Amino acid sequence: MTKAFRFYETGGSDVLKFEDVDVGSPGEGEVRLAQKAVGLNYIDIYFRSGVYPAPSMPSGLGLEGSGIIEEVGPGVTDLAVGDRVAYAAQPLGAYAEARVMPAKGLVKIPDDVSFELAAAAMLQGMTAQYLLRRTYQVKKGDTILIHAAAGGVGQIVCQWAKHLGATVIGTVGSKEKAEIAKAKGCDYPILYRDEVVSERVKEITNGQGVEVVYDSVGKDTFEDSLKCLKRLGMMVSFGQSSGAVPPVSLAQLAPGAYFLTRPSIFQYNATREELLASANELFEVLKSGIVTIDITATYPLADAAKAHDDLESRKTNGSIVFTV
Ligand SMILES: NC(=O)c1ccc[n+]([C@@H]2O[C@H](COP(=O)([O-])OP(=O)(O)OC[C@H]3O[C@@H](n4cnc5c(N)ncnc54)[C@H](OP(=O)(O)O)[C@@H]3O)[C@@H](O)[C@H]2O)c1
Repeated sequence: MTKAFRFYETGGSDVLKFEDVDVGSPGEGEVRLAQKAVGLNYIDIYFRSGVYPAPSMPSGLGLEGSGIIEEVGPGVTDLAVGDRVAYAAQPLGAYAEARVMPAKGLVKIPDDVSFELAAAAMLQGMTAQYLLRRTYQVKKGDTILIHAAAGGVGQIVCQWAKHLGATVIGTVGSKEKAEIAKAKGCDYPILYRDEVVSERVKEITNGQGVEVVYDSVGKDTFEDSLKCLKRLGMMVSFGQSSGAVPPVSLAQLAPGAYFLTRPSIFQYNATREELLASANELFEVLKSGIVTIDITATYPLADAAKAHDDLESRKTNGSIVFTV
């Protein structure tokens, strides 16, 4: 029997149940995937805890994985049985040994990319791709601020932004994480527990501020992030690991005529063309060594609850995968 995680109510990691499931056969436009690795992402915690509502209950969990196609449904023309594929795509249900899912969310993975690397890279890597290349196009001479610089998305953003010619300022929760971020190209790690981030950013930038802030922490950081911006700067609020950002007044943007956006990978990769372009760019930076992804922890899928607890309590850095 195949096993998968489901949750029947939202809450702490104890709501996750590893159950026998009947995977079934793929329908029109779908494939059946034997999964090899699954990516752990902060968004999994939002769905499990109810911060983001699951479309239906009980619900599967997880949006990222890799594996081998074992059955192809009618109407699927560009994928075949035996293909090595990966995804960062809806619907929820990646925490599973096998699953049926729409083929349109899958991309073939290069031969030299392992299942573990693909599962670690897809969601966080394509997020870094759209943040740095599409939400705001980072260019030589820019200075950027990335929160949680030693985290999964953070480490990729540091390396890629540095390659694009930016000066990278990042926030981190500990000295160890400061060293990790630095090793990934963060020029100025700021220990947010010891310093007021906006004051330090102004010091580093000679009072100017940064072109763009990438803020995934949310409630605790939003207001101070605005103070870090240069005139006409871009505030990118792309997550809420500390809680939801309270309602924003337009007047808060007036001091520097700032731009504000709340992006999502699923909006940026909504079409097949966008998805493939983003994935290709990610595989390019991995291949060339511009970005290296450190899988800092690997858990058996059955230990998903423990992995959630570690991620939520800020114990982790880098990317985390489940092996199947
Ligand atoms: N919008 C999108 O398209 C999109 C896509 C992917 C990810 N995201 C967001 O990006 C963020 C990073 O995701 P990730 O998977 O790479 O996770 P991560 O950065 O590896 O983990 C979260 C990190 O956030 C920091 N943090 C600060 N305040 C926190 C708090 N109150 N509770 C927990 N963590 C806190 C911690 O680092 P320190 O110890 O250094 O503070 C923690 O390690 C998440 O908010 C996620 O939702 C958004």
